[in-house]
Amino acid sequence: MNIKIAPSMLSADFANLERDLKEVEKNGADYLHVDIMDGHFVPNITMGPDQLAQLRKVVKIPFDVHLMITEPLKYIDRFADAGADIITVHVESDGDIQTCLDAIVKKGVKPGLVVSPDTDINVIEPYLDQLSMILIMCVYPGFGGQSYIPASTEKIKACRKMIGNRSIDLQVDGGINFNTLKEVVDAGANVIVSGSCLFKGDMKENIGQFRKIIQR
Ligand code: DX5
Ligand code: ZN
Repeated sequence: MNIKIAPSMLSADFANLERDLKEVEKNGADYLHVDIMDGHFVPNITMGPDQLAQLRKVVKIPFDVHLMITEPLKYIDRFADAGADIITVHVESDGDIQTCLDAIVKKGVKPGLVVSPDTDINVIEPYLDQLSMILIMCVYPGFGGQSYIPASTEKIKACRKMIGNRSIDLQVDGGINFNTLKEVVDAGANVIVSGSCLFKGDMKENIGQFRKIIQR
């Protein structure tokens, strides 16, 4: 399977974003994972569409925008206009799922749904035929650098089974590092988000190490 790597910008140096994003782009990452937090759906706050639009001008790498906000519907158009290539919405948010998916597709952006650790993946089933991506959170959303929740592995396997022969990417996010990567890939994940691990030290070496582990 073609495994994609999506470094999470949350762990970049925000005083040097242009430098860090170029580093991500030139070292073979497939997507830039952009965490959008509103201080309400999760306790943390990151940034809004205007800031994303500025980043769009400095790199071409696809933006995979993970909305951790209570009212995604209010902001989908603006993140799409800011240059998002993929937008994922939490099923636990206040946005009506179908309305959000329609809004994303209408803007020509690839739609995805996210489930937090305590959410059953069956919630996603009615929408499967409309999705480009499913994101399984392997930590509670809000912060980088948390430990992988071991129960995520069974969830990934079940989700891969649920996807069947549909061409939906299965993304994992949270606690993915050199020790946990093999487990999530073997379970069926094919888009790997990683923040604190990839941004610590040398991005090129770290992505190279990820690719080696994936091939094993
Ligand atoms: C957490 C975010 C993640 C975070 C992952 O809510 O969704 O994308 O950056 O960070 P690590 O890889 O450090 O767990
Ligand atoms: Zn994320």
